[in-house]
Amino acid sequence: MDFAFTDTHTMIRETARKFADERIAPGTIERDEKEEFPAAIVKELGELGFMGMMVPEEWGGSGLDTTSYVLALEEISRVDASVGVIMSVNNSLVCYGVNRDGTKEQKEKYLRPLAAGKMLGAFALSEPEAGSDASNQHTVAARDGEHYVLNGTKNWITNGSTADVVLVMAATDRTKGPKGISTFIVEKGTPGFSVAKRERKLGIRSSDTVSLSFQDCRVPAANRIGAEGEGFRFAMRTLEGGRIGIAAQALGIAQACLDASVRYARERKAFDRPIAELQAIQFKIADMATNIGASRMLMLKAAALKDRGEQFGAEAAMAKLFASRTAVESALEAIQIHGGYGYVREYLVERYLRDAKITEIYEGTSEIQRIVIARSLLK
Ligand code: CAA
Repeated sequence: MDFAFTDTHTMIRETARKFADERIAPGTIERDEKEEFPAAIVKELGELGFMGMMVPEEWGGSGLDTTSYVLALEEISRVDASVGVIMSVNNSLVCYGVNRDGTKEQKEKYLRPLAAGKMLGAFALSEPEAGSDASNQHTVAARDGEHYVLNGTKNWITNGSTADVVLVMAATDRTKGPKGISTFIVEKGTPGFSVAKRERKLGIRSSDTVSLSFQDCRVPAANRIGAEGEGFRFAMRTLEGGRIGIAAQALGIAQACLDASVRYARERKAFDRPIAELQAIQFKIADMATNIGASRMLMLKAAALKDRGEQFGAEAAMAKLFASRTAVESALEAIQIHGGYGYVREYLVERYLRDAKITEIYEGTSEIQRIVIARSLLK
């Protein structure tokens, strides 16, 4: 497999790196402390064309491939994983799904502004009793003429309170299990749709994570994506792409850990020499770099398969599984290398650990990724 980057890939990566270092980095610590949503940055990401990177230009997107997208997302997440997840959900879960399965009218009304960063999207699959067991949907959508009436609760929804539109998975026929689920585009402000609870989180604290409530919420039937009963398949296919994005987010965090560790090891002296000269430190840095390299290869392979129109679900799961573990381990080692400084808030590495952990949980836990990988081999 050829991993040579095109001029466009290199240009996108450089643009993302510059934007991350110059525009995102300055307020990162403060936003994390205040749990403040980076609204101005999200707006600028839209202007850069980073909120609908893989959406065709005819629908207002940047018309780029998945490789460009993950290179950009890694750079953004290297500096601020909260911004990374906001960008990832809009691109991978919302724009990608609507572009793939939406009607022309849905694309005109929703995809065009979503891709241009003029609207923000969220993806509401998880529920109090439907996290890993995603087909166990208790939110129901009952047909009533030209509308569906939604009732239920969604949990841990990224972008949930800031989003202009939410893709909501709901059971249109609970007796049919996964085949009785449908997807709806629900606009903010629709009567009966409200934010139920704002989560206070360990990490990615400036991203917006909420529970959503639907109480007799009437949604036009024209806002259903795909046929009735296609919603679970829609969610699973969409999450396959999303998992490459989370691999990129994890990789960005891991790379930040490595960069900080190398910098610190050169500067910090112990026993009259820089700690970079101690093998105990060198081995940690070497392991970190090796795992990061392997994560990057897995991520790029999954992206390349997706761009070639081939099956990529198992490869996406492998990339997410490995990169998320790498992010957590790299953060732990970065803290160890930094010693006491690693444990205090004025150094960035304690945040890397807090941010890294979620990459092993959302868009399918590591245990779910192993199920997806094993099923692809044993079917
Ligand atoms: N593509 C297409 N179809 C798929 C599919 C895929 N990737 N995966 C499953 N399906 C189909 C199956 O083929 C099956 O249909 P058939 O019977 O016709 O073959 C149907 O869907 C049901 O599939 P399963 O029997 O495999 O369903 P399951 O209940 O055993 O669940 C699972 C499988 C892999 C565990 C799935 O529930 C899963 O992925 N769970 C994790 C959910 C998840 O990732 N949640 C993330 C929430 S979103 C989020 O985190 C976003 C955020 O805010 C950051």
